[in-house]
Amino acid sequence: MPGQVVDSTSIFKDNIFKGRVLFCTGGGSGICRAMTESVMRHGANAVIVGRNVDRLTAAAKELSNATGSRCVPAQADVRNPAQLKAAVEKAIAEFGRIDFVICGAAGNFLAPISGLSENAFKTVIEIDTLGTYHTIKATLPHVRKSKGSYIHVSATLHYRGTPYQAHVSAAKAAVDALSNVVAVEEGPWGVRSNVIAPGPIAGTEGADRLFPKDKAVSEKMMAAIPAGRYGNVKDIANATVFLLSDAASYISGQVLIVDGGSHHVDKPF
Ligand code: HXC
Repeated sequence: MPGQVVDSTSIFKDNIFKGRVLFCTGGGSGICRAMTESVMRHGANAVIVGRNVDRLTAAAKELSNATGSRCVPAQADVRNPAQLKAAVEKAIAEFGRIDFVICGAAGNFLAPISGLSENAFKTVIEIDTLGTYHTIKATLPHVRKSKGSYIHVSATLHYRGTPYQAHVSAAKAAVDALSNVVAVEEGPWGVRSNVIAPGPIAGTEGADRLFPKDKAVSEKMMAAIPAGRYGNVKDIANATVFLLSDAASYISGQVLIVDGGSHHVDKPF
């Protein structure tokens, strides 16, 4: 995140990803940008993928300057397989390999199912679920070659019936399922696939869109988080470094929930 240093080199060795290449959809902002920064600080180069070329270009520059690794922007809408393929070709032309893939591009807004149009539901499924499928398909030949690793950014919304989140709940349940299949089918090729399910992460576009604006509701929501605070992007970044590292080499087909224990709370707010 701009203005927030995401540095886990005091926890993990700083060179563990040297020579590796990360391909991250949604890497131009928010949680995925922080995930990218953390992996770059450990020596990996990166390609960040998104729709907004100005935001991507600025982010790539800032990430390169901040980490000393190289970050390259590749414009693509994850709903468009041809654009994703071109982004992968750009990554290979620049760096010759892809070791890590973060499927993070997502769309969300609050809407009751009674007011959710067919197109609104479809749009989120297309970004989150089909976008993940397209990203897996485009990158898999290269990830097989490098015996690499996937992280899919999901959510905890679909563990219960979260109001106003029918579209994202359905989309992320499918993302979890896709990750499990990749873990099983691609495991024999040396490929791992896991999910990170963030809880309420402050300071992101998702938080702007989803967190309650009413102070009393917000305080109630905070009080219900066992960890006593909202998450921040560093929490997700540290989980990312662990899951991509050799410390997690026997971990595949898992969902790592990073939510301060919130998903166990009976009535979140
Ligand atoms: C109801 C809405 C809506 C809203 C859009 N739509 N916003 N319906 N309430 N607030 C409807 C539109 O009316 C339209 O349906 C359909 O959705 C498509 O909208 P478009 O604007 O044409 O789509 P597009 O330009 O492709 O934008 C996609 C988007 C947008 C998802 C709607 O919000 C977006 O680009 N978001 C990307 C960034 C983002 O959302 N980041 C936060 C991710 S947070 P009709 O019927 O009118 O045609 C996240 C965290 C999850 O994922 C877990 C949290 C814990």
